Amino acid sequence: MDIKSTVRLSFDELDELRDPRPAGSDFDRVVEAAISRRGFLGGTLAFGSGAMVFGSGMLGSAGTARAQAAAFAFAPIGIATDFDIHVPQGYRWQPLVKWGQALFSDAEAAWSPETGVPLDMSDRVFGENTDGMETYEHDGHVLLAVNSEYVNSEVNLPAEAEGIPRNADEVTLLKNMQGVTVMEIAQGENGWQVVLDSPYNRRITHETQMVMDGPAAGSDLVRTNADADGMSPKGTMNNCGAGKTLWGTYLTCEENFNTYFGATGPFEETEGLVRYGIGGEGRYAYEKFDPRFDLSQEPNEPNRHGWVTEIDPTDPDSTPVKHTALGRFKHENAEMVQAADGRIVVYMGDDERGEFLYRYVSNGTWAEGQPTDGLLSDGTLYVAKFNDDMSGEWLALTPETTGMSIEEILVHARLAGSKVGATSMDRPEWVAANPLRVEVYCALTNNSKRGGDKMPVNAPNPRETNEYGQIVRWRPADEDHGADGFTWDLYVMAGNPEVYENVYGGSDNVTAGNMFNSPDGMAFSSDGMLWIQTDGDDSNEGDFAGMGNNQMLIGNPETGEIARFLTAPNGAEVTGLTWSPDRKVAFVGIQHPGGSWPDGAGKPRSSVIAVWREDGATIG
Ligand code: FEO
Ligand code: CA
Ligand code: CA
Ligand code: CA
Repeated sequence: MDIKSTVRLSFDELDELRDPRPAGSDFDRVVEAAISRRGFLGGTLAFGSGAMVFGSGMLGSAGTARAQAAAFAFAPIGIATDFDIHVPQGYRWQPLVKWGQALFSDAEAAWSPETGVPLDMSDRVFGENTDGMETYEHDGHVLLAVNSEYVNSEVNLPAEAEGIPRNADEVTLLKNMQGVTVMEIAQGENGWQVVLDSPYNRRITHETQMVMDGPAAGSDLVRTNADADGMSPKGTMNNCGAGKTLWGTYLTCEENFNTYFGATGPFEETEGLVRYGIGGEGRYAYEKFDPRFDLSQEPNEPNRHGWVTEIDPTDPDSTPVKHTALGRFKHENAEMVQAADGRIVVYMGDDERGEFLYRYVSNGTWAEGQPTDGLLSDGTLYVAKFNDDMSGEWLALTPETTGMSIEEILVHARLAGSKVGATSMDRPEWVAANPLRVEVYCALTNNSKRGGDKMPVNAPNPRETNEYGQIVRWRPADEDHGADGFTWDLYVMAGNPEVYENVYGGSDNVTAGNMFNSPDGMAFSSDGMLWIQTDGDDSNEGDFAGMGNNQMLIGNPETGEIARFLTAPNGAEVTGLTWSPDRKVAFVGIQHPGGSWPDGAGKPRSSVIAVWREDGATIG
């Protein structure tokens, strides 16, 4: 792979390049297959009538939700193709924190537009390629936990390295620019700023000591030479989306961890390694300088990554915990809600073409103020099965249903999901639960290899060679996240109505004025509106003409209306969203920007920005 040509690709796109698949061939057949679904989907996609698929009995709370759902409080904006951020009239934005910005005053001189961040300060600054994040209020302080998903090695390393680390120090530099940042932020005369030297400021990297819990902790599958007990893994990596527990901790989700491992010698190509795309050369050549990442020396090290990891942002000395009970896959985010009886439910997507959507349900229950022990280590993992009649069910992954041991089920959740007949999805990205009713959404970003015998179209993934993506939503039976049944529909099928008059034109709530592709990040604001971030093709040409740069849109779950709220600089994706405690400021992540955004000179800097209303009203 020519690394120089990949500077502005998202990590998801890089992972696709690593494993390219043939695109659909017979276009007539593609269209015919997709159109044959039109009648089936027509009822769900024509909004207004859309909710009828749930049946009147399912709509008990819909009237309330409709009354509470706000109309758009902004005039939608047009597309952009420039290297700037655009927000609606009456709104403002400014950077909150940029890649390389100091968390401690002794690192204030760390950043240089020519050379980036020096090694000796690389764990005392904000990491690169911001992604999922959450805000916390604690003892009068506001804390922000933020993922740094991956690193653009060619902008972090000296030009001579050409994007490939040449020694252990350069590997360490790259390791330190990724992981998680916890920092205190405060509102001052110039808006929200990082609080330098706050005792809460902390970096968690590929080297931070962690522990594991749950059924797979300590198993043979996770033991290594360095950790014979299999209980004390190091590092969290490719931290993509995030989640917030009901008890106020941070969930960081390990996504494309497979790309960090390589082999300097022979290794056994197991079914597990193949299914998770592990083998060959690591993207950052870690294996050449650190035996932990060398499959020929530590074949179990990859099994210690790909988990949901819990961090207590309020205690800088706390040890992060990898929760094996939530399964190992390419975790996008973790959306926690509660079942009617108080059990903890976590919805999670596995972002790979054809992989699955998961749900974890704890055995124990929880209420405010009660202990949290065991809630994320003792429970059952499920995969989703979507039926053509718009019903669905959660299939439990147990030794009885899979014929696998519980350790194997959790470490190789994908293999377990295949055994029970889970529905193959178009790359499940973020899951978001509607706060106004029992209803959940998942962004299915796109799937270049959907179609054909290996991955036939199915009801929630109805288009071959799906380059635009869709958002599926489901309502649990009995309005209970703990129920095993659900009904579902598609909230939106992205598409280009200016180019296509068939299903590639998108659902009826997609127009020339709000076109987008590749929905990815998603979160609900407290008023019940769905904020949708994109990570797609921003060429503004061909099938993507009229869509412009990546963007953030806001969708009304009741009417289906979707309006463009923000456009990113060219090259960037928009990913990560949280709000200030007073809901007057939205914090939005801008990852892998192009040009020299936002400084206008030097290297491009992935950043978290603050967006607010000029009149000081709430926006989320
Ligand atoms: Fe890190 Fe699937 O996005
Ligand atoms: Ca990304
Ligand atoms: Ca994503
Ligand atoms: Ca993506």
